[in-house]
Amino acid sequence: MCGIIGIAGNQPVTDRLLEGLKRLEYRGYDSAGIAVINDDNGPSTLVRRRAEGKIRNLENLINEEPLEGHLGIAHTRWATHGAPNTMNAHPHFAGRVGLVHNGIIENFTLLRDQLKDTRTFQTETDTEVVAHLIDEAMKSGLSGKDAFAASLKQLTGAFAIGVVIDGVDGQLFAARRGSPLAIGLGDGENYIGSDAIALASLSSKIIYLEEGDWAVITTDSVEIFDANDTPVERAVTIVSGSLAAAEKGNYRHFMLKEIYEQPESVSHTLTHYVDAFHHKVKTLAELDMEGLDWNKLERLSLIACGTAAYAASIAKYWFEQLAHMPVDVDIASEFRYRRPALTKKSMAIAVSQSGETADTLAALRYCQSKGLQTAAIVNVMSSSMAREADFAMPINAGPEIGVASTKAFTSQLTALLSLAISAGVRRGLIDGSREKNLAEALTQMPRLIAETLTLDADIEALALDLSKADSAFYLGRGVHYPLALEGALKLKEISYIHAEGYAAGELKHGPIALIEEGTPVIVIAPTDALFEKTVSNMQEVATRGAKILLITDSEGAKNTAGMTDATLICPTVSVETAPIIYAITVQLLAYHTAVHLGTDVDQPRNLAKSVTVE
Ligand code: G6P
Repeated sequence: MCGIIGIAGNQPVTDRLLEGLKRLEYRGYDSAGIAVINDDNGPSTLVRRRAEGKIRNLENLINEEPLEGHLGIAHTRWATHGAPNTMNAHPHFAGRVGLVHNGIIENFTLLRDQLKDTRTFQTETDTEVVAHLIDEAMKSGLSGKDAFAASLKQLTGAFAIGVVIDGVDGQLFAARRGSPLAIGLGDGENYIGSDAIALASLSSKIIYLEEGDWAVITTDSVEIFDANDTPVERAVTIVSGSLAAAEKGNYRHFMLKEIYEQPESVSHTLTHYVDAFHHKVKTLAELDMEGLDWNKLERLSLIACGTAAYAASIAKYWFEQLAHMPVDVDIASEFRYRRPALTKKSMAIAVSQSGETADTLAALRYCQSKGLQTAAIVNVMSSSMAREADFAMPINAGPEIGVASTKAFTSQLTALLSLAISAGVRRGLIDGSREKNLAEALTQMPRLIAETLTLDADIEALALDLSKADSAFYLGRGVHYPLALEGALKLKEISYIHAEGYAAGELKHGPIALIEEGTPVIVIAPTDALFEKTVSNMQEVATRGAKILLITDSEGAKNTAGMTDATLICPTVSVETAPIIYAITVQLLAYHTAVHLGTDVDQPRNLAKSVTVE
């Protein structure tokens, strides 16, 4: 997970940047670098030091070749585009511009093409092109500030950026879209950082930039602009001195913070499974899993509990459709005692955020005892499942504190979809151009999740109504059926409202008897091959008095005008990635409903984050 820190200082900054980088180590990284405007001897120059591996390598380098300056940026890199080596390490330079970046610039290939006649690229990264854009804009006569603002408009993707420019007196530039970035306020100095942890020893006064914001920071001023370049004020949060690794920032609950982290957490999952540079999913060899051969497997057995089991249920559709692999999905507590008939040509995959859930672990061990190959898709790589399975597959979502799982769910889905595509490619069902389309759809997810998060205020308003209900139904078809189950689970877990998820076509076989005037029914239906069928089922309950909230896309909204009580319009997305995007809406709906009801959102009654008993 990349980390950013920057200082517009009244004292030399190098040592403090190094210290900030050490605070960011917890995020994981493979190289690090610092750039400063060297203002000590004569005219200013932009200088940098970068090193592969641990921060102490960078520190040793700086001891040998010191850096002096009052304005600087620093970065820990977790490679996404291009190998984890010194050349690809940040900061990247282009002319007078030095830049650090966290996230993915989705349209970097296009931008590189546009600049290829005038610019020489030194790296394989998606980042470098942004430095060139800014430098190029300044060459055309724009000021540093205007060049920065104009360049941001050309970027698509989810990112946080920090920039210093040689000759632009004392200004540090920062932007946030999709990936978090904070500003720290000091005494005669100001700072930027990926989070308040990076800034802990520098400042307790933190401004969290909002989506689309950008800023110009000097030693004695902080100017913030929104996505339309309008100057805005953002609240200052006082962060306590004892900053734990898990802090809520300016979020009211960990759950909300974790919902908002999803553009970033999903991009970290993608980094592991997708080669965005070549528009491919990574092969099993690239994932260090040579011992696994999708062609030799006749069956997959996905085993999990709770939210992870719903991720597995969605993945069943993907493995069947993309790789033609038969898949069983089992709840671990049932699987372990039902003496399932297993064949050695099947592989068991345990899906678990914690990697410690007792039932899932027991099921994994059972499969091993029967001679099956096993894999564990986990968030905690030091967990028992990761250690004991033949293959440990990380989701890299970062620590999840809220008991109700959110970002781990979307990262589990991202990992599972990437693996299903990889299986489809290896089994000869997905050709190069389809793989490219699918890989591109995957890399667009962080941006689309960020876009979906802008529905938050609408969802909060709808949740007020839902908070008054005694029970609710969630309906979906295909991959959106398990998502309906997850939506209902989220609502139950944290709001304590009784909720049921149903396959939209199944409701009329019994549960429709429960529909009465005003019963809330949440229908998840993006425009796809099943859309019309779901809409018919929606009308069946609407005519019986149900209050319909339809979650769809703009096409779906157009085709259902007048048929619903409320419609939430998600971005238009590929059929395969839709459940990952639509998951955000049901998470926010449950969250706001619970907040309206005043429940303990992060630690709901009777629930535990990691259930290590059966
Ligand atoms: C508990 C948590 C759920 C989680 C489930 C499985 O019930 O409250 O949020 O989905 O355990 O946990 P795991 O760590 O195996 O994903």
